[in-house]
Amino acid sequence: MLKVAVTGAAGRMGSGIIKKILEQENMELVAAIEMPNTPLASKDIGEVIGIGKIGVKITGAEKLEETLKLSNAEVLVDFTIAPAAYEAIKVASSIGVNLIVGTTGFTDEQTKNIAKFVKGGNIKAVIASNMSIGVNVFFKLLKDLTPILADFDIEIIESHHNQKKDAPSGTAMTAFEVIANELERNPTEVGVYGREGLVGKRTKEEIGLHAVRGGDIVGEHTVLYVGQGERLEITHKAHNREVFIAGVIRALNTINSLESGKVSDMADVLGIK
Ligand SMILES: NC(=O)c1ccc[n+]([C@@H]2O[C@H](COP(=O)([O-])OP(=O)(O)OC[C@H]3O[C@@H](n4cnc5c(N)ncnc54)[C@H](O)[C@@H]3O)[C@@H](O)[C@H]2O)c1
Repeated sequence: MLKVAVTGAAGRMGSGIIKKILEQENMELVAAIEMPNTPLASKDIGEVIGIGKIGVKITGAEKLEETLKLSNAEVLVDFTIAPAAYEAIKVASSIGVNLIVGTTGFTDEQTKNIAKFVKGGNIKAVIASNMSIGVNVFFKLLKDLTPILADFDIEIIESHHNQKKDAPSGTAMTAFEVIANELERNPTEVGVYGREGLVGKRTKEEIGLHAVRGGDIVGEHTVLYVGQGERLEITHKAHNREVFIAGVIRALNTINSLESGKVSDMADVLGIK
C-alpha cells in the first residue's frame, strides 16, 4: 500500500484526488492538509468533501512536518498555491517524503531552489504544470512532428470557456515553446498573437497563436501544420478535470521507479522522453 498525504485537501483538485485515491486498491490516504490554522482542522476530510467519514482528520500546514512523520506518508501530493507548495517541497525533501506537485506559478528562483531541495533530500519528485496524460503525449507528438514538417506554416489555436482570464493558455504557450525549440527559432521573435488589419504576408518563420473564448469549453488545443495542398492538424480536447486527476494517479503508480534527487515531469512518468 502506498501511503499518500494530500495538501490542499479541500480544494478542487485536492478533493478530487482524494476521492480517486480512495478508489485505488494499492493506495491509502494517510493525511489531509489544508492552509495554516485552518478552521477545518480536526474535521474529517471525507465529511468536508461530501463523501462521509473516512477516518482521516484535516491538519493545518503549520503542522506539515509533524503530520507527514506521524502518518508515515511516503508521498505528498500538492495542489495548493505556489508559496505553500514551495514550503511543502522544502519540508518533504528534508524528511525524505516523495512528491507529486501540480501547483503552478513558481518563480524562476523558486524553481531553481526546488531542484536543490529535491537533490539535497535525494527524494523522487514529479512536478508538472499539466498532469493530463493526453496533453503530455500531445507535446511529445509536436516534438517529433515539427522537425519533419519544418517547411510547413505552423499555427496554434486554443479554445477555452468564457471565464478564463489569461490568453494564450499556458498549454498553448508550452506547445509554442516546444515547436520553436525544435525549429531552433527564438520564441520571443517568432510568436504572432492574433492578426488584425494590414499585417502583410506571413513570414516563413512566424508561428501564429490564436485564442477562442466561449461558453463552457474546458480546453482545446490544435496545432496546424499547413503545406501546399495539404495540412495536418493535431488536436487535444480536455472534457473535464478528471484528466489531471488521472495523471496524478499515474504519477503515484510510477513514482517509486523514477530517479531520486531529480525533478521528473510527466514525460518521465509516461516514459516518452
Ligand atoms: N498540474 C495540473 O495539471 C493542474 C491542474 C489543475 C490545477 N492546477 C494547479 O493546482 C493548484 C490548485 O488548483 P485548484 O483548482 O485545486 O485550487 P483551489 O483553490 O480549489 O484549491 C487550493 C487549496 O489549497 C489550500 N491551501 C492554500 N494555502 C495552503 C497552504 N499553505 N497549505 C495547505 N493548503 C493550502 C486552499 O485552502 C484550497 O483548499 C493551482 O496552482 C492550479 O493552477 C494544476
